[in-house]
Amino acid sequence: MDNFTFYSPTYFDFGRGAESHVAELVHRFGGTKVLFHYGGGSIKKSGLYDRVADCLKKEGIAFVELGGVKPNPRSGLVQEGIQLCKSEKVDFILAVGGGSVIDSAKAIAAGSVYDGNFLDFYRGKAVIEKALPVGTVLTIAAAGSEGSGNTVITDEETQIKKGAKSDWLRPKFSILNPELTCTLPAYQTAAGATDIMIHVCERYFSNTEEVEITDRLCEGILKTIIYETPRVIENPENYDARANIMWAGMLAHNNVCGVGREQDWASHHIEHELSALYDVTHGAGLAVIAPLWMRHVMKTNPNKFITFATRVWDIDLNENNPEETALKGIEAFEKFLKNIGMPSSFAELGAKQEDIPLLTDKLMSGRETEGNYVKLTRQDIIEIYESAVR
Ligand code: NZQ
Ligand code: ZN
Repeated sequence: MDNFTFYSPTYFDFGRGAESHVAELVHRFGGTKVLFHYGGGSIKKSGLYDRVADCLKKEGIAFVELGGVKPNPRSGLVQEGIQLCKSEKVDFILAVGGGSVIDSAKAIAAGSVYDGNFLDFYRGKAVIEKALPVGTVLTIAAAGSEGSGNTVITDEETQIKKGAKSDWLRPKFSILNPELTCTLPAYQTAAGATDIMIHVCERYFSNTEEVEITDRLCEGILKTIIYETPRVIENPENYDARANIMWAGMLAHNNVCGVGREQDWASHHIEHELSALYDVTHGAGLAVIAPLWMRHVMKTNPNKFITFATRVWDIDLNENNPEETALKGIEAFEKFLKNIGMPSSFAELGAKQEDIPLLTDKLMSGRETEGNYVKLTRQDIIEIYESAVR
């Protein structure tokens, strides 16, 4: 196990009705004037918007609002949010929604106390050294942004989707009520489950040895998602299954599964080019890319895939042919993704073969390799994208 530091200061309020504590939590973490940030309308339809607004009003917390965050959140709305925070002297950002709303809120939080263009943080030109405090009310188990210090934004000028990272962005509190996720369409539920699994896999597929504790945490989360996802797809109102998935989504990405080891992240970076160019749902893009990444890198480094197959997918080890065992694990994963309704090809995502050179150029701009479990060259990336053309 490698040396590490771990800082995860978020206060979690989990369970039925937890959103009724939102005003109290804003108060506790110092908010007096709030930006209430949300997405495209699901929270108005479900009544969550009214409940949160009423709660803030009752507690006497002033707020301004900014809705309209789109999946794969854009830089333009972030700029608008920053202007609003500056002109209204906002001191707390409340994100009510999914990963896109939370990521947009984090970008606004950092940009509001920075003199330059907030995109500097995403272009690697500046480091986040402070931010307004952020609180969240989560409505989808997927991105894990409710417990992470990460944010991913699409730069509308360049159509490049990039992440920024800082402990300053870790939410002060996150409210996780599994009931709020019952209104999710099956496709979004499945895409979220896929994203959670790949957050684990990006950490699990590592060359660092002797990380039994984090390996076992990873396997526990993967097995939970494999068990619970078909149950919520069959019965969207299954509270306990929703609850297990929601907490798994947080654990998958606050880095408790990643500490002390080298991490990979190639599947995410390869996918982000697809969501930037075609606006595909992030989890659906991962459902196409991650198994192809697995098939590609397994040829060079099968070790961890054998463990993945036997421990996660309960495949019997064929000692005479461990690579066959490894392949069966990947096949089991592919079958699972298909059963929960996820795509497996470029065509299903609306992605085009002729764009592969562009996707690859954007991804590999300024570097020689991608990922760590196996260091991928430009040619490897092309082959992974090509294998999705079906
Ligand atoms: O906008 P509304 O109307 O709310 O609809 C959303 C959106 O259309 C809908 N939705 C959310 N909760 C709902 C609901 N519909 C009905 N009932 C509910 N309870 O679901 C759609 C997707 O929402 P979004 O916020 O985009 O989903 P997700 O949480 O998957 O976030 C995806 C974004 O997170 C980024 C992705 O790249 C993508 O941009 N990621 C962020 C990470 C981080 N900050 O740490 C890590 C991830 O790897 C990921 O890259
Ligand atoms: Zn993800």
